[in-house]
Amino acid sequence: MVQSQADYSHRQARLTTALNNYEQLDAIALNAGPSLTYLTGLEFHLSERPVVGLFAPDTSPVIILPALEAGKLLNLSYPVQHFVYGEDPDKWGLTFREGLQATRLSDKRVGIEPGQIRFLEMSLLEGASSTTKFIPGDALMAELRMVKDEVELSNMRAAVTVAQNTLNSIMPAINPGLSERELAAEITAGLLQSGSDSQLPFAPLVASGPNSANPHAFPGERRLAEGDLLILDWGANIGGYFSDLTRTFAVGKPEDEMRHIAQIVLEANAAAREVAGPGIPAEAVDRAARKVIEAAGFGEYFIHRTGHGLGLESHEAPYIREGNSLELVPGMTFTIEPGIYIQGRGGVRIEDDVVITNDGLESFSDLPRELRILGD
Ligand code: CO
Repeated sequence: MVQSQADYSHRQARLTTALNNYEQLDAIALNAGPSLTYLTGLEFHLSERPVVGLFAPDTSPVIILPALEAGKLLNLSYPVQHFVYGEDPDKWGLTFREGLQATRLSDKRVGIEPGQIRFLEMSLLEGASSTTKFIPGDALMAELRMVKDEVELSNMRAAVTVAQNTLNSIMPAINPGLSERELAAEITAGLLQSGSDSQLPFAPLVASGPNSANPHAFPGERRLAEGDLLILDWGANIGGYFSDLTRTFAVGKPEDEMRHIAQIVLEANAAAREVAGPGIPAEAVDRAARKVIEAAGFGEYFIHRTGHGLGLESHEAPYIREGNSLELVPGMTFTIEPGIYIQGRGGVRIEDDVVITNDGLESFSDLPRELRILGD
């Protein structure tokens, strides 16, 4: 589904309300990336030519961009002021100065996203106004983006469906002798054939045997062998919204201990899904999963948080971790992905994509979660 243009005016109005309520910030400056797309529907590559959007109450949004991109601003249903620059970087500073003046940002506190904006944009912004103060504003943007609307949710549901269909279609190809890299290629091709947008959220992760004990292993030349645990972590993109799923398989008969840890992770995943709901702090979801794994004696092998928000980015707020007291509310989407990793032997992770509903939680993903034994 495609977001209507009215949705973007609505999001900009929500930002204005948030800025008016938020003591510390007067405006927001965003470079090319998910938050700018969220507020405007405009997509720009992050490239050597900077694109910056300035959002301040009482003025229409300002977009500073290269002249060759200006065509993207035609046919917008909401007002924007735009300032374009040409190919000579020495003149970009002047354009940024005009943009900041149009938003009347001198002496103001402007929020930026520290994990997103680059030295390139920051130096142009700071050079454009010596009296503007730039401070982190990512929490405010996260607050707006965390709760998804119906169109966003339908895209995420579709992204999960495409990912699940992909797995089902490649299952017959997973056999001993296949390399991790070859399997990653199957998944990548399967995602595109199943209808994912071509820009995948991340490169599929395929980790077999001892490699499965490394949560962020890159697929390599290792070939699947009897007795391996096999972790697949993959996702699709529909309309800019991502899925992010993980399932663990056994190639032939697994060792008893690997079977045992798979059962514990399954219970931890279920416990976290059971506890999550409106009014529950994010950390309580992490605790629910961790408690199961700790009680079974494997606490030290669960080496990451239980999950992360999901949407326009494959990792975004809310983070499902100890210390995050943020209360979950309906419309928040995130992953639940406990794991146990035993170095040198193998690992298990089971990852679902979920949304908080009015009375609990809905899992978008429903692929079997039990350890599936291939070739059985
Ligand atoms: Co994930």
